[in-house]
Amino acid sequence: MTVTTDSPVTTLTDAATAGRGRSADEIYATGVRNQWYAVCPSGFVAPGAMRRITRLGVDWLLFRQANGKLHLLEDRCPHRGARLSLGKHLGDRVACWYHGVEVAGDGTVTSVPALPGCNLEGKQLVASPPVIETAGAVLAYFGDARHPAPAELTLPEPLTDEGTEAILCYAEWNVGWRYALENVLDPMHGAFLHHDSHTMADGDTQARFRIRETERGFFFEKTDQRGVNFDWVELCRTGVDWMDLTIPYPPSAGPGGHFGIVGMATPIDADRCGVFFWRYRKVTGWQRDTWRFLYKTLIEERHWNVLEQDRTMLEGLPRDADQAENLYQHDLGVVRVRRMYRAEAEKQAAAQSGS
Ligand code: FES
Ligand SMILES: [Fe+2]
Repeated sequence: MTVTTDSPVTTLTDAATAGRGRSADEIYATGVRNQWYAVCPSGFVAPGAMRRITRLGVDWLLFRQANGKLHLLEDRCPHRGARLSLGKHLGDRVACWYHGVEVAGDGTVTSVPALPGCNLEGKQLVASPPVIETAGAVLAYFGDARHPAPAELTLPEPLTDEGTEAILCYAEWNVGWRYALENVLDPMHGAFLHHDSHTMADGDTQARFRIRETERGFFFEKTDQRGVNFDWVELCRTGVDWMDLTIPYPPSAGPGGHFGIVGMATPIDADRCGVFFWRYRKVTGWQRDTWRFLYKTLIEERHWNVLEQDRTMLEGLPRDADQAENLYQHDLGVVRVRRMYRAEAEKQAAAQSGS
């Protein structure tokens, strides 16, 4: 499903990007720009509430109107930089606590109460990235100064297709986002790290891998085994970067056949990330109810256990793990995704500095 937003054609970028630019290292560590990212579960902010959140190394204010409409504003007052998240929710705008300046959901200053008629009024001075909500999550577009207009977004079909039921699991890990992504681009760890799980005990513990290009990204897959373990992953770039994979399920796990996962990783800052895993199956009607029931009563806890194994492994990596490695054939997917983001970070940094 391709999505259009009702946001203005251009939006401001956050102050750090607009003001001084970022180095390639910084962009690589805190997330390449000019694409959509999953931000948080929709339930993070209730109607009529607001809360501070850090994403891509920038502090933001999640602000929801009583009617449910959601806004993301940079958490920085346009007057002198105070945190808007310390201010007051006024329904369709927020009032800064420091001197009372009021900012609407689209980032426009609506009032300077201490100096009526002040020329800040009516100006859009706060970055307000376009947001959408889908399958229980908030997604936002983060553009740099040269790309303020949101990129075309096609949502992952397992999240939007009728006939597929997806359940979101969200966690925050103390590891840079790229390690969380690389972990999914490394299917072989399933047969080792998750060997004791109920779904990844079977199959060969040896394999050869290949990369297969697609129109929207690439597959990284075993050449000699499919449908037995975590045997393939597809990286998809559709305005948002996401990964798709399936893991075989035994008949005891209910209807719907193979169990799919759509995964996304979003930088919080250079050392932390939010991970989004939607577990999906092709089910409708009573099968959908059965799947949801089984998932909640039996399967979810097992999946948390598997995710905890990933978290433990990744949080234990030294921060500079990728500086002294000895890679082999199974790491081609990791190398590919690293090169891709590194090249993009360099391109974005160079464009900002005008070189
Ligand atoms: S810093 Fe926000 S009103 Fe002055
Ligand atoms: Fe894993």
